[in-house]
Amino acid sequence: MKWVTILVIAIALVASVLAALLYAAGGSAAQSAGDVKIPTGYRSWFHVNTLVIDKASPLYDALGGMHNVYVNSTGEAALKKGGPYPDGSIFLTDLHEVVVSDGSYAEGPRKAIAIMIKDDKQTSTGGWIWQLWAKGDPTKPLVMNAVKQCFECHQPKTDQDYVYSTYIP
Ligand code: HEC
Repeated sequence: MKWVTILVIAIALVASVLAALLYAAGGSAAQSAGDVKIPTGYRSWFHVNTLVIDKASPLYDALGGMHNVYVNSTGEAALKKGGPYPDGSIFLTDLHEVVVSDGSYAEGPRKAIAIMIKDDKQTSTGGWIWQLWAKGDPTKPLVMNAVKQCFECHQPKTDQDYVYSTYIP
């Protein structure tokens, strides 16, 4: 075989591998951006914890409110061990306003629903798909750049597979 022919074949091979890689990357990006739906029935999942972030917190602007965190049955056993989480594990935060009256902190209207779905293919975002819906409205997904909007702030929790919540017996 002439060296020119070998070169042409080599270039074609490299090009097809690159095309396949780009296709795979595009596919997973599309999944994290738009294809994810709000899971039904999460109110009967394992309730992980409830956390209130009020105006005294530096995180108030980003995360203020009452966070009710749930995990599905796939992730429950891993939560009890402190991670890592198997594919298909889902954490969901049901975020509400807090209505304070006479010293009682009650759950107010819904501000957002946020989820993390374990999917080992999502290597650029810690192996999780991230999405958040304003007021829990399925027509208002807000995550366009999961690295900047979500993953960077969860990154310090590397030893817990990027999950902040821990098991409270
Ligand atoms: C400013 C930092 C910060 C950003 C940005 C952030 N999170 Fe979180 N997240 C936290 C903290 C702190 C907790 C634990 C507190 C709690 O219980 O909600 C948490 C908890 C969660 C949980 C419950 C599981 C866990 O890790 O405890 C989910 C689901 C979640 N975040 C999803 C998201 C999504 C989706 C985004 C992007 C839209 C996002 N987060 C952006 C800090 C952040």
